[in-house]
Amino acid sequence: MTTTTSGVETAARSTTAAARATDLSKVYGQGETQVVALDAVSVEFRQAEFTAIMGPSGSGKSTLMHCMAGLDSVSSGSARIGDVELTALKDKKLTQLRRDKIGFIFQAFNLLPTLNALENITLPMDIAGRKADSAWLDRVVETVGLAGRLKHRPSQLSGGQQQRVAVARALAGKPEIIFADEPTGNLDSRSGAEVLGFLRNSVRELGQTVVMVTHDPVAAAYADRVVFLADGQIVDELLDPTADSVLDRMKRFDAKGRTS
Ligand SMILES: Nc1ncnc2c1ncn2[C@@H]1O[C@H](COP(=O)(O)OP(=O)(O)OP(=O)(O)O)[C@@H](O)[C@H]1O
Ligand SMILES: [Mg+2]
Repeated sequence: MTTTTSGVETAARSTTAAARATDLSKVYGQGETQVVALDAVSVEFRQAEFTAIMGPSGSGKSTLMHCMAGLDSVSSGSARIGDVELTALKDKKLTQLRRDKIGFIFQAFNLLPTLNALENITLPMDIAGRKADSAWLDRVVETVGLAGRLKHRPSQLSGGQQQRVAVARALAGKPEIIFADEPTGNLDSRSGAEVLGFLRNSVRELGQTVVMVTHDPVAAAYADRVVFLADGQIVDELLDPTADSVLDRMKRFDAKGRTS
């Protein structure tokens, strides 16, 4: 098992992979305008683990999330959710898999303003014609602390509450994995802490798998592991991060960047 830069640690902690990229490359454009957003990335996201993805702007973090969530095509290599190879799926199957197995939380909450909180949470299942597991839904709503707010529309909720609705929506369908692209980027620090605490609880208590992009060492410290990207490649990995250890690692990259 050498799918990350620190294969030994990976093997020791390994359970089953919820998602895995192998030699995943993504190239945008052609000729002079060509951009290699991901350059043969291999990484594994284990079940019931909370991973943070960090790296400079333009390093490929969003591209990696989009390719792994089937929201963007890959140029070469493999992207798997569980046992399913995304690159082998036709559009319809891919849409189904996205709907059934993947939760995605965007930086902007993407809630529908005319629906109340509960309707927003169950929307993907309503579209899919699936009935929500009501015991599970209660548990999710309880865990995100939205029980008293289910009839409120997004405009009647704080930013933190809106993002918690988006988190609950991602969790409600029991996806195999949740991808979150800077889910706290638009929140004040208190609301951000609420959402991060909730994501961590969903991993600890509900066994959810979460992969989250963040620029914030404090946010990354909520995760079990931090994967660092630079120029479309994975350059480092940190287990059991603290805000200080993440900051330290980021400073070292800065220093390397300047001297090389
Ligand atoms: N649709 C696209 N067409 C062309 N180039 C793109 C496209 N999307 C992303 N890129 C390029 O790919 C590279 C990686 O972009 P990506 O959005 O993954 O970065 P990021 O790490 O998420 O950055 P940020 O922290 O700013 O969100 C960048 O150089 C970007 O300009
Ligand atoms: Mg991004």
